[in-house]
Formats: sequence, C-alpha cells, structure tokens
Amino acid sequence: MATLEIKDLHAEVETEEGSKEILTGVNLTVRSGEIHAFMGPNGSGKSTLAYAIAGHPKYNVTSGSVLLDGEEVLEMSVDERARAGLFLAMQYPVEVPGVSMSNFLRSAATATRGEAPQVRHWVKEVKQAMSDLEIDESFSERSVNEGFSGGEKKRHEILQLDLLKPKFAILDETDSGLDVDALRVVSDGINRYTESGDKGVLLITHYTRILKHIKPDYVHVFVKGQVAESGGPELADELEESGYVRFTEKKEAAAQS
Ligand SMILES: Nc1ncnc2c1ncn2[C@@H]1O[C@H](COP(=O)(O)OP(=O)(O)OP(=O)(O)O)[C@@H](O)[C@H]1O
Ligand SMILES: [Mg+2]
Repeated sequence: MATLEIKDLHAEVETEEGSKEILTGVNLTVRSGEIHAFMGPNGSGKSTLAYAIAGHPKYNVTSGSVLLDGEEVLEMSVDERARAGLFLAMQYPVEVPGVSMSNFLRSAATATRGEAPQVRHWVKEVKQAMSDLEIDESFSERSVNEGFSGGEKKRHEILQLDLLKPKFAILDETDSGLDVDALRVVSDGINRYTESGDKGVLLITHYTRILKHIKPDYVHVFVKGQVAESGGPELADELEESGYVRFTEKKEAAAQS
C-alpha cells in the first residue's frame, strides 16, 4: 500500500509584479485505494497544487514537503516523479506537434515500466484501451493532442492513465467540457483504473455530476491555497446546494482577526 503525503506545502509563481504565493500551506494525505474529490472556487490554486506535485518549473515550492511512501518527491526530477508512480492529467492538455500519439504512449510506457513493452502485446493493449475509451484507431497516428477537441484531449489523458497505471493520479478537471456520453466513458475508464484497489486518486472537479459515476471516499474544499474543510460525499452535495460562501467567509474572517 502506498501513501502520498502533502505537508504544509507553500508555493509561489513568478509574475511581472514579483512572486505571488498561491499555495498557503496545503495538508493532505492520499492512500492507495482512496478517491479524494478536490473542489474549490476558480483561482483557489487547485491546478497550482497539481503542477507543484508534478514538478512544473513555473511553480516555486518555498516550503513544505510531498512524500511518496516517505520519499521526498520535491527533490525528484519530473521524470523521476512519473517513474515513482505519479501521474497528472492536465486541465489543459498540451499539444505536441510532430510526436505521434502511438510513439508518445510507447515511450511513456517504456520509461515508467523500466523496459519496452513487447510489440505484439503492446499493440493489443493499446487497441483494447482505445476501444474501451471509444477512441478511433486513427488517433494513433495523429500528433499528441494537436487539433483534438477538448473532449478528445480528456479521453486521451485517461488513455494514458489506463496504459501507465500509476500509483497515484491527479486528475485536473478531467470532466470539464465532456458531453454526457463522454463523461460516462471517461468515468468508466477511471473506475477501471481504481478497481484493482491499490490506486489513489485526487480528482479535481467543479461538478458533482462526475461524482455520480465515481464515488469519492473524501471531499475537500480548497480555498485560497489551502484545504478549508474535509468531509465525505455529503460535502459535495452541500457545495452544489450552497456554493463556497461559507468557506470563503470563514477564511476572510480568519484573515482579519
Ligand atoms: N503565471 C502566473 N501569473 C500570475 N498569476 C498566476 C500565474 N499562474 C497562476 N496564477 C494565479 O494563481 C491562482 C491560482 O490558479 P490555479 O490555476 O491554480 O487555480 P484553480 O483553482 O485551478 O482555478 P480553476 O478552477 O479556474 O481551474 C490564480 O489566481 C491565477 O491567476
Ligand atoms: Mg485549475
């Protein structure tokens, strides 16, 4: 069983007016077998947290730690983090012109598995994963994400998840922009990934609709760069009903006192 522990994490971003603190002390522990839904207002720092864990160079971690089974993730390079079992599905997946989807997936699988998958086996594996996600085979020869629709990009993030099977997956708004059928296909993909019972998921989302397909064990409300409250699935229902006012007001009152 694996554990991802985020302890008092502070991070800032460089802006034209100097550095600006976005993460103001994040504490969160995700264990394998757990699904954590992560909700919070726009601009609260959810994607920043995802990037800081993944090692995006734009975000400067000023203090705190991220431990994967006790190992300091912040001291690892980006590819070491991936090989250690961390995966990030980005809110806005990047286009990589000139690199075919099939080459990209094979290189990623080779790097994370430590050896190149056997060709015959690999072809079958990719075909199956694409068919499960209702992705047409013609996408294999297209450049990574180039010209893909928003929903197609999101499906391909889950295709990577399916093939790479990381220990921990951070899924940043994988449900945004999906039509109802695609939401079901993508949710089924995430559920297939977690069914082995030894994976941990941090599911960043704005909508409870995905939580009808994927049952979270915990729900966290993220406000102004930190976890303001944690609870069970009922917390997501409260947010849907009443919004974030209760949490943002509490933060403002705390800041003034
Ligand atoms: N390069 C940058 N320069 C200035 N501000 C930045 C930069 N990068 C991030 N920020 C700010 O950091 C804050 C947190 O952004 P982040 O993308 O993490 O929010 P989020 O919670 O993911 O929001 P959303 O729900 O809209 O995706 C925002 O106010 C954003 O404008
Ligand atoms: Mg975001």
